[in-house]
Amino acid sequence: EKYQIAVCVGSLRRASLNRKTASALMTLAPETFQWNILDIGKLPMYNEDLDETPPDEWVSFRKALKDADGLLFVTPEYNRSIPGVLKNALDVGSRPYGANAWDGKPAAVVSVSPSKIGGFGANHHLRQALAYLNVPTLAQPEAYIGDAAGLFDDQGNLTEDSTRQFLSDFIQAFKTWVERFR
Ligand code: FNR
Repeated sequence: EKYQIAVCVGSLRRASLNRKTASALMTLAPETFQWNILDIGKLPMYNEDLDETPPDEWVSFRKALKDADGLLFVTPEYNRSIPGVLKNALDVGSRPYGANAWDGKPAAVVSVSPSKIGGFGANHHLRQALAYLNVPTLAQPEAYIGDAAGLFDDQGNLTEDSTRQFLSDFIQAFKTWVERFR
């Protein structure tokens, strides 16, 4: 049985460590997962005035969320919180009022940082919003990927066996989590 997993990466940077981590997770994932990487950088900023005439990007984004069986968030930490581009995506998906497209979708959160704290602040700010949005989010294992600049070679391949093992275990736990909500 196939599961459609929507992926939100909280960085738009070409050489993003978060994007590389998301790619590694997708490679390590079970074959039953089919991926849809959402282009959250293309979403116009949320504005309630546009609820009646939503931009096409909002409409297709909400549709992609509705079609998803699960959600994978991979995010950097900006100023001890989540980047604005990711918060905007959460807001766009949550509206119009009463039509929250995130509702009930099982999720997992990974934070990635070149610093040692591993994006803990972003990870938990994201969890705060997801709790409100009624998104059941995998509690354990937690994934705070620190010192991330040294984890990849120039081609974006993982160089650390221990990280590969951790990410592999993580995505297996997420698989079990998603299956509980089918
Ligand atoms: C950062 N960075 C950062 N790192 C961190 O661990 N905690 C933080 O609070 C911040 N704050 C912050 C703010 C802003 C505006 C920027 C641009 C960066 C550093 C950040 O972790 C680093 O740039 C990562 O490489 C970003 O992730 P990607 O783009 O590599 O996925």
